[in-house]
Amino acid sequence: MSEETRFGLEQPFFLHGGDYNPDQWLEQPEIIERDFELMDKANCNTFSIGVFSWTKLEPSDGVFDFGWLDNILNLCEKHGKRVFLATPTGARPAWLGNQFPETNRILKDGTRARWNERENHCYTSPVMREHAARIVTRLAERYGNHPAVCGWHISNEFNGECFCPLCLERFHNYLKDKYKTLETFNQAAWAGFWSHIYTDWSQIDPRDCTLDLLDLEWKRFITVCTVEFMKLETDIIRTYSQAPVTTNMMGFYNGLDYWRLAEACDFIADDCYPSWDKEEPLKVGARVAMSHDMHYAMKNKPFLMMESCPGRPEWCVRKMRRAGEFEREMLLAIGHGADGTMYFQWRKGRGGMEKFHGAVVDHDGSNRTMIFKRVADYGAKLKTLAEIHGAAIQADCAVISDWESRWALMSTFGFQGAPGQEKENDMPLRHYSALWGCHVSIAVIEQVCDFSKYKFLIVPSLYMLKKGVAERLIQFTEKGGTLILTNMTGMVDENNQAILGGFPGNGLRKFCGVWNEDVDCPDPGEQTVMLNGFQLNERNSFPVTGRCEIIHAEDADVLATYGLDFYKGYPAITRKKAGAGYVFYIAADLDEEVLTAFYKLLLMNLKIKPLLPGLPDCVRVAKRSKDGHDYYFVQNFSNELQHLSLSGKMMNIWSGNAKGNKIYLGPGESTILRA
Ligand code: GLA
Ligand code: ZN
Repeated sequence: MSEETRFGLEQPFFLHGGDYNPDQWLEQPEIIERDFELMDKANCNTFSIGVFSWTKLEPSDGVFDFGWLDNILNLCEKHGKRVFLATPTGARPAWLGNQFPETNRILKDGTRARWNERENHCYTSPVMREHAARIVTRLAERYGNHPAVCGWHISNEFNGECFCPLCLERFHNYLKDKYKTLETFNQAAWAGFWSHIYTDWSQIDPRDCTLDLLDLEWKRFITVCTVEFMKLETDIIRTYSQAPVTTNMMGFYNGLDYWRLAEACDFIADDCYPSWDKEEPLKVGARVAMSHDMHYAMKNKPFLMMESCPGRPEWCVRKMRRAGEFEREMLLAIGHGADGTMYFQWRKGRGGMEKFHGAVVDHDGSNRTMIFKRVADYGAKLKTLAEIHGAAIQADCAVISDWESRWALMSTFGFQGAPGQEKENDMPLRHYSALWGCHVSIAVIEQVCDFSKYKFLIVPSLYMLKKGVAERLIQFTEKGGTLILTNMTGMVDENNQAILGGFPGNGLRKFCGVWNEDVDCPDPGEQTVMLNGFQLNERNSFPVTGRCEIIHAEDADVLATYGLDFYKGYPAITRKKAGAGYVFYIAADLDEEVLTAFYKLLLMNLKIKPLLPGLPDCVRVAKRSKDGHDYYFVQNFSNELQHLSLSGKMMNIWSGNAKGNKIYLGPGESTILRA
């Protein structure tokens, strides 16, 4: 491998491979030999190695064995396979957890967990940090320049929290650093409530739900701790290796603010396990596409789908995917900016709780299974796509999905349990999904991102406004952007304290000409919205699906009103011109179909065209561009044959059909067109 093609995603081809655990097969070298034959047959080029191999690398405290890994990495080099070498801190050896019980977490109820399972070490324990640093140093020294190592996979799916005295003390220091004095903290936390004024930092218990700032700060703190632990590892690696580092995220996992973790990564990697048979394929697809669009937006660069399942995960009894569905899932990632798709796992183990988890190589050990063939076929196709590798995504439209705002809303009493209540990413997802149905490229961003590169910005239920965000939303609109605000916008500040002077706060009330007086949570079907003088999908009345804000249009045009009950006739959707742009306020929760129709109308007015015209409703498209070429990933999310008529000169990248203006997509099928 030449120097310039060694690193991470910076390869001239798409990465394809998976988690490979040869450490579990050392007693059967013939299996490992066979693996390398099968890897070529499966068209796989890249593997994550050593994710859970601490106990094989350091069988007892300070006793190391790298021989087997030397051998595996050399085999990888010999066979031209790239490796993301993992640091093994995701699972501690038994000796570590038992000799040093302080590395086990203290749970919420105050009891110390026993050593078991994985991804459950205390991030603060000095013993844990020392041991982690030592094994990572050994790996980095030894393999930092190994020609097969193209990147580093730090730990595994960081998650969870620890309430040990050391972590709590660190939490108190974190608060002290941030707020300086207890008086300031007491004010920020509204601590007079239920007589909670603290007189010593040590009295602050993050498990006390009385003050909702506590939970918010604890979550911020857990993110800080996790990032610090990751940095402990990456700082060491960077001393010895040029190869980029990453860690595998889990979509919109609520426990960590992934934008902060992203800052510690050189490129983004994500694990993705959609349940295609649990919901409508388009619903699942939206969730997955949204996650991909966020992972691309985090660095505005291609990311890696580090884990996906080639078969069926063992943790849920599930239908098998059809061949088209499998390829659709993979190409959904590539279309939305992945420069590689990998699997958990390469080969099924013989024991342990994941022994029946889908894998490329099954227990029969052959290349004859349906899953293996699918993987190999897809891998072969991926090779033909090398020209698209590294291609960029250009989005005029963006949707905000913000961790801290979501945390604040979820921890606020009064909105929990209501219809339309926030569950993780629900509201942003609904709006994303509606916009996805307009066939445009979308960036999924957080509230502190730069808005200036977009023309159309949807801000679903941005409950918490960080400093300066309202001003930037106003600026975005006045310079010509179209801004969509929805109910629950701008209600609290960064301390989760209600903003005074009428919602939406921080100047947004005046800006959008709307005052949100109160919020009603009717049951589905109990309220409707009536459009004023226009139609969507040839209708002018729609049921509300959840929250209804009682708003007043103080200085805005009323586009729709409520149809029933005591607030019949009150505004439900408004619009106001602001400088060169428009701000819309959607006070009622509406279903995706209405939102799609509404957004289609707005985009048409803005001259933001669909990526491809005339697509059937159940087809989705993503676009990547490189060297003057545009590539369209067109995917059928239905179980019926779809017929597409395209204008312009398009070439089907696989069939080479240059006419290209008539295309048939079989059930679940995907294709790629080049313009
Ligand atoms: C996660 C983990 C893997 C494996 C898979 C199973 O993504 O990172 O180690 O356990 O789940 O689906
Ligand atoms: Zn701890």
